[in-house]
Amino acid sequence: MNSEGTEGYRLNRLFTQEQIASFVQGLADRISKDYSGKELVVVCILKGAFMFLSDLIRRLRIPVQVDFVRLASYGSGMKTSGKIEITKDVEIPLEKKDVLIIEDIIDSGRTLQFLKDRLALLKPRSIKICALLDKKARREVEMEADYLGADVDDIFIVGYGIDFNEHYRHLPEIYYVTPIDPSKE
Ligand code: IMP
Ligand code: MG
Repeated sequence: MNSEGTEGYRLNRLFTQEQIASFVQGLADRISKDYSGKELVVVCILKGAFMFLSDLIRRLRIPVQVDFVRLASYGSGMKTSGKIEITKDVEIPLEKKDVLIIEDIIDSGRTLQFLKDRLALLKPRSIKICALLDKKARREVEMEADYLGADVDDIFIVGYGIDFNEHYRHLPEIYYVTPIDPSKE
């Protein structure tokens, strides 16, 4: 491993900027329609969903309030730790609001299960989930996005806000990571 912890892996492009924009526009259209006349608060899960959130809310045609939570669940590298903690909580009162959680990727489903249960204690009028990507094959608990950009296989994703050991979040496209086999180079 080099100091960046990403040596020995290759990035393979999965979605172009145009494809991502089309997922985001489709989601924004549906959300604008469904939440018209409601009191929408989007709750973005940091850090991975920040780029998705910023593109999504700029395409909404309805008023929206924005809040953030930070959850510690993944540790570093490619394995989830199972135990989830909240390290930054919501600040906007959510009682009687229509809450939409914004997530980058659903994997085991545990992060969203934890956050949904926690936000429900704040008595919102509704809680739904909007995820950019979903790895359904990896689900460990029952969890489904109400709004989903695209399904992906069991691959490790980076780019468009999503990291590998804090790298690659800035990339405007979405990639998947594969190990380089030195014998084939
Ligand atoms: P879950 O709790 O297992 O569903 O994990 C969800 C969280 O793990 C997401 O918020 C992501 O931050 C992270 N995650 C899941 N899959 C990937 C991936 O392929 N690349 C980077 N992060 C991922
Ligand atoms: Mg992450």
